[in-house]
Amino acid sequence: MTALVAAGTSCQTSPAELRFPADFWWGAATAAYQIEGAIDEDGRTPCIWDTFAAIPGKIANSDSGHPACEHYFRLREDVALMAGLGLAAYRFSIAWPRVRPRGGERTNPAGLAFYDRLVDELLSAGIKPVATLYHWDLPQELEDAGGWTNRDTAFRFADYAAGVADRLGDRVRLWCTLNEPWCSAFLGYGIGVHAPGRRDHAAALAATHHLLLAHGLAVRALRAAGPVPVSLAVNAGTVRAVSTDPADADAARRIDGLLNRIFLDPVFRGRYPADVLADTARISDWSFVRDGDLSLIGSPIDALGLNYYQPDLVGAAATPNPGPVPYPTGEQVAWHDLPGPRTAMDWAIDPTGLEAVLLRVGRDYGDLPLYVTENGAAFPDHVVDGQIDDLDRIDFLRRHLAAAHRALSAGANLRGYFVWSLLDNFEWAYGYAHRFGLIHVDYATQRRTLKRSAHWYRGVIAAGGIDQP
Ligand code: GCO
Repeated sequence: MTALVAAGTSCQTSPAELRFPADFWWGAATAAYQIEGAIDEDGRTPCIWDTFAAIPGKIANSDSGHPACEHYFRLREDVALMAGLGLAAYRFSIAWPRVRPRGGERTNPAGLAFYDRLVDELLSAGIKPVATLYHWDLPQELEDAGGWTNRDTAFRFADYAAGVADRLGDRVRLWCTLNEPWCSAFLGYGIGVHAPGRRDHAAALAATHHLLLAHGLAVRALRAAGPVPVSLAVNAGTVRAVSTDPADADAARRIDGLLNRIFLDPVFRGRYPADVLADTARISDWSFVRDGDLSLIGSPIDALGLNYYQPDLVGAAATPNPGPVPYPTGEQVAWHDLPGPRTAMDWAIDPTGLEAVLLRVGRDYGDLPLYVTENGAAFPDHVVDGQIDDLDRIDFLRRHLAAAHRALSAGANLRGYFVWSLLDNFEWAYGYAHRFGLIHVDYATQRRTLKRSAHWYRGVIAAGGIDQP
């Protein structure tokens, strides 16, 4: 604990030992369904997470996106908190069912007006708006028509993207088409722990392709609307083999294929990896891929967002995994526990995976600008005398920023870093049980309290860097 206390307090000394570029985007991130609440407001219609949350047993404590942080009603207060931290950029997502209720073709002016106000409020506070168009809140009616297994959903998404760009494209500084399509496809359609809760590995592959097609079509629509740079946020990770044994190396190859290359190869090389197609041939013939799709998916983008939490350590499986695995070839792979400390999510704390993924993406896919669009941790925060002394979160963030700095020094084209998350919020299947925020939210009163990590992050931003962990 002593080391942690030292880590938590030495941040105030300036100048920082590890400095980031002067124009670095110091940010924080959120997502619409996780913070907005206001699920019936101004014409919004249900999304797949509203439906999923209503099914008993799907979400811890039967929580749902109501009330979340009621950010929809507290926009000004929340932007003022961001301004107080000195954020250079804020990554938020736009709720498709607010802007296009029922997934229809008509833009709902009242829904879009909320984001219009948010963008203006951010700009007047000197904060760059970074808008994600899809952070998992598919309009329920589109799911009823097949969701991401239906090719038509991709075209609906492109229409919705065009409508948003038409209104906000003069002020947003960076578009992000999709957030973590791996989670949408593999957790939502493959293993069913996320909405819409389907359990069908073949459906997960179809969803993967249609999400990528949606991305490609949206890139085209966003380009047509104006010059704002376009990106995609993926949970690309570092997959390590538990030993140098060829069978373990092959397990790592499979999972790297299904976590990383299945998304990055089509986006940056215009093709699916041959080994992934071969590994999954038993469950899908990939006949959902049509002529022309891959050139759309491979439309050039301007930046890539990486969401990083922990690496994977895998090996060949002698016996099947005890529980369901989100990967179609997961039965050949065993997951191993990473050594060392863990967060409240039971995720391993291993910043070296962040450094590795930043360098790998640049090496394998080209030298485009990179943003860490999410990084952060849940810990069991305790409110004592109105204060939250989250030294473990400070230590986590500092170590990951040091890893990002090492990547930067080794040549990674890193332009910004967004803490997940600005506020404690609805953590999907875990409900409100896990808190990732720099800012504590008392859900009963909606009172916001800056955690010690928020004060620390403000110091980091002001100093332009961190001290050595
Ligand atoms: C994700 C999402 C976020 C999560 C965060 C913590 O990665 O799952 O982008 O919405 O809340 O990552 O799990």
